[in-house]
Amino acid sequence: MKTFYIKTFGCQMNKHDSERLTGLLLAKGFQASSSPEDAEILIFNTCSVRRSAEKKFLGVLTYWQKEKAKEDVLIGVGGCTAQKEREKLIKKLPGVDFIFGPNDLDKVPQLIDACLRGNKPQISANVENRPDFSSLPLHREEKFRAWVSISTGCDNFCAYCIVPFVRGREKSRPLEEILSEAQNLVEDGVVEITLLGQNVNSYGKDLYGQPRFGKLLQAVEKIPGLKRLRFTTSHPRDFSFDLVYIVKNSSVICPHFHLPLQAGSNKVLELMNRQYKQEDYLRLANKIREEIPEAAITTDIIVGFPGEREEDFKETLKVVEEVQFDQAFTFLYSPREGTKAAEMEDFVPLKEKKEWFLELTSLTKRVALKRNELLVGKTLTVLIDGKSKKGQISGRTTTNKVVNLIDNSFLEECLGKIFNVQITSAFPFHLKGKIILD
Ligand code: SAH
Ligand code: SF4
Ligand code: F3S
Repeated sequence: MKTFYIKTFGCQMNKHDSERLTGLLLAKGFQASSSPEDAEILIFNTCSVRRSAEKKFLGVLTYWQKEKAKEDVLIGVGGCTAQKEREKLIKKLPGVDFIFGPNDLDKVPQLIDACLRGNKPQISANVENRPDFSSLPLHREEKFRAWVSISTGCDNFCAYCIVPFVRGREKSRPLEEILSEAQNLVEDGVVEITLLGQNVNSYGKDLYGQPRFGKLLQAVEKIPGLKRLRFTTSHPRDFSFDLVYIVKNSSVICPHFHLPLQAGSNKVLELMNRQYKQEDYLRLANKIREEIPEAAITTDIIVGFPGEREEDFKETLKVVEEVQFDQAFTFLYSPREGTKAAEMEDFVPLKEKKEWFLELTSLTKRVALKRNELLVGKTLTVLIDGKSKKGQISGRTTTNKVVNLIDNSFLEECLGKIFNVQITSAFPFHLKGKIILD
């Protein structure tokens, strides 16, 4: 049977989709190749959230097309860019043999079979009605950590965002089904689960008439043997105060809140169709800080949305100062064809936006360092998950901060285990510490 390699771009949903696709292809008898060099089928699972993500994929694809030009290799493109472009992608990228959207993973073996019979190119990109992929076999790289998808798609249509167009409408999975998948994973040795959805807080609205995310968390956290429960991503509009108490009262749910702010100015938030105001966001962030002082609040921010003026941008800086984010992912606005924002008038030159961007990133970095410095001398629990770029053993706190260990030994034995670690120094994006053996 043929060998395959999947190169994944984008968010955790895409990474999780690649795990299902790998599981499915293995079950069909294909063999996984550990590097693209040896693969006979090369699959790219793409992201289209920003132009830069698409450019990165195009660069990698072009490289491999050249490398593989003389060999008999099938090239497939899946994920969000595949869904967005569909037939157009074949015209733009001759040599691509098959295309599949994020909601068509289950079709991939058929597409490959057809291509192998000489029937090329093949396209399957039906964005609506994502079938339930939980029955597809799952191939996980890590034994101790797993994602569980609780809902797919998104109904929010934030004005800048392509996701609702490429992932379809929001669809929740029944609570019992999620619970049983989580139970099986824990029985299989998983100690940390991350619940995934574009907007986890509205989980269940479509199934039960009202959100049931709190109930879901409380059901999953009770699974015996589960040590850490995480969730992402939250929408500030749908985030109720109850959830803060649920996290506060749990020893399993991690005190980490990823709450994308996107912008600080009410004018821009409205143009973005975020449906909350700066005041609402601050009230929520303050509540979290008040109830769970050790919690981490992280965020996403877009700079240079059409219509954003200097005074609006200053509001973003103000919120960053006030909330003191533990980490902020900052993005320069990237127009996406088909979204509302792509049609909006944009006055500010790119040069100025880039200056704002630098100002924001230097502030978020300073703030993150300040937050991390508060942890020096403290002992935190760290789940060891791998090695840093410099080869140090590394893990994460419950607040999702990276900790590199100073004493470098016995990685094999500690992978997936939780240790008490004393924090010895702080940096903007990570901490350093040493294991305390008791
Ligand atoms: N559903 C999630 C994640 C969406 S994509 C959420 O709502 O939080 C991840 C981040 O990419 C977004 O939070 C946003 O900050 C950024 N993003 C999305 N579209 C963008 C665009 N057109 N330009 C720049 N950044 C964008
Ligand atoms: Fe995009 Fe907004 Fe949906 Fe997040 S909530 S995926 S930013 S439309
Ligand atoms: Fe994720 Fe990118 Fe698609 S962020 S949902 S892979 S557009």
